[in-house]
Amino acid sequence: MLEVRGLEDVVAAESSICYIDGERGILSYRGIDVHDLAQQSTFEEVCFLLWEGRLPKREEFADIREAIGRERAVPRELLSLLATLARTSVPMDALRTAVSALASSDPEAQDMNREANRRKAVRLTAQIGTIVAAFHRLRKGQAVVPPDPGRTQADDFLRMLNGETARAAAVRAFDTALILHADHELNASTFAARVTAATLSDMHASVTSAIGTLKGPLHGGANEGVLRMLQEIGSLERVDEEIHRRLSRKEKIMGFGHRVYTTEDPRATHLRRMSKEVAESSGDTKLYDMSRRIEKIMNEEKKLNANVDFYSASVYAMLGISPDLFTPIFAVSRISGWTAHVMEQYSNNRLIRPRAEYTGPPYPQPYVPMDKR
Ligand SMILES: CC(C)(COP(=O)(O)OP(=O)(O)OC[C@H]1O[C@@H](n2cnc3c(N)ncnc32)[C@H](O)[C@@H]1OP(=O)(O)O)[C@@H](O)C(=O)NCCC(=O)NCCS
Repeated sequence: MLEVRGLEDVVAAESSICYIDGERGILSYRGIDVHDLAQQSTFEEVCFLLWEGRLPKREEFADIREAIGRERAVPRELLSLLATLARTSVPMDALRTAVSALASSDPEAQDMNREANRRKAVRLTAQIGTIVAAFHRLRKGQAVVPPDPGRTQADDFLRMLNGETARAAAVRAFDTALILHADHELNASTFAARVTAATLSDMHASVTSAIGTLKGPLHGGANEGVLRMLQEIGSLERVDEEIHRRLSRKEKIMGFGHRVYTTEDPRATHLRRMSKEVAESSGDTKLYDMSRRIEKIMNEEKKLNANVDFYSASVYAMLGISPDLFTPIFAVSRISGWTAHVMEQYSNNRLIRPRAEYTGPPYPQPYVPMDKR
């Protein structure tokens, strides 16, 4: 039996992108505390920070905003492809297919030059929100809303999704959520992206691997699981009984626990506050109140803290976003981190190829011919 299952605490890469101290609840991008970024930065600025390793100067910030806005449009063939997918397709599957297909229309898809990869990082980051919004509208039989290059990623995503300009408070809340989800060291999807990149496969292939990995309920899929749980429980009065029942059946409560944090996930601190603010401003605090109660029970009974996915669920739900878009929205942000890690992997590459402890029948076993089995 392996002593370390799931590569727990194994250091598998050197990286200068994201620093986490799980015992002190610290998360920083390029050494800048995520609390400072959540309060003062923007998603576009964080993209520059992750890709370049430093904050942009004023002109550089204007350039990155302009570039992401300019690259937001997706090829017409891609919209046609999205339209051919079944309306019942899981949006994460549609996103994975679309990002993979984007390679065929990206003139630099196979170009492994550093500058080409930097341009692809901008392009993929810009396009991914357009894909999520377009697929959602297509499956509802609505017209796709074309991007507006003059808007920020958060503003334009909400507009392309809903067909109308979002309130400034909603845009700010969404932008903060994008900042908080942008990177998280060697989480499972980023690791998958780096494993793919380490074979010297291209950026679209690496991001496609990452999207497939993010989908799982133990990773990015947990935020959708949280909302489903809140919906199933239905009311504050039923929380205690339901959570205890689930725990007694050894079920995992989505949005709790973390491989790295032994204390509060610093992203949850912001998302809890945002959930409270959005709830109070809308006058409907039901989801927030239920979430607080679940958190209290989990702290007391299991000594487990909320992670990034717990309060993002109620925030997105209160912004009117469909639950099955929560995980694609995680990708709309994490694409910035994935692409930063892929470029870092290329810059100092070695194939990632671990070993397995063999537990099968002892060697050698005879090969028994078909008619003797
Ligand atoms: C995040 C997660 C996958 C980390 O997994 P891990 O490091 O492998 O930890 P384990 O699954 O081995 O959990 C360790 C113990 O805590 C318990 N535990 C962990 N998360 C739990 C949860 N969300 N609900 C109930 N119990 C939980 C496990 O049952 C296990 O208990 P045991 O030792 O009595 O068997 C895990 O906490 C989880 O599944 N959480 C729910 C999904 C989620 O929110 N994912 C998003 C992560 S950002």
